[in-house]
Amino acid sequence: MATLLLVSGPNLNLLGDREPEIYGTTTLEQLVAAAREAATTAGYDLEHVQSNIEGDLIDAVHTARKRCSAIIINPGAFTHYSYAIADALGAFEGPIVELHLSNTHRRERWRHTSVVSPIATGVIMGFGGAGYPIAVQAAVAMVNAGKR
Ligand code: DQA
Repeated sequence: MATLLLVSGPNLNLLGDREPEIYGTTTLEQLVAAAREAATTAGYDLEHVQSNIEGDLIDAVHTARKRCSAIIINPGAFTHYSYAIADALGAFEGPIVELHLSNTHRRERWRHTSVVSPIATGVIMGFGGAGYPIAVQAAVAMVNAGKR
């Protein structure tokens, strides 16, 4: 079965407990379960990697090369400044969905820049946990259409 990789960046392990007024009360485990259900429905496996360490996220993206059909990534704060993650994503041959719980454009100015967006196929943000299955469906639609 074809595989999708979901990558979660720093501090997302604290979801459910961390700033619930911004990020909601759903845990990362629950979000991953919702994403996996959407993937299974579409006929895909879903792998998940979470790390607070930039290099681990880069390694996870590398392991997806030539193996996974698409990457869905919430890079957390690395979104705003990690050229290394952006470069790793640039070396991935399939579609990339950038995903955020919050609408970063409605927040502090430093969150308005994403160094990942220029590499991403598309971006889903601002829908809280509901964005996770939507991001999976978007990734599957791109894979099935043969689009990068
Ligand atoms: C986030 C938005 C980022 O600005 C922030 O640093 C996060 C979470 C989101 O999902 O809304 O850690 O990526």
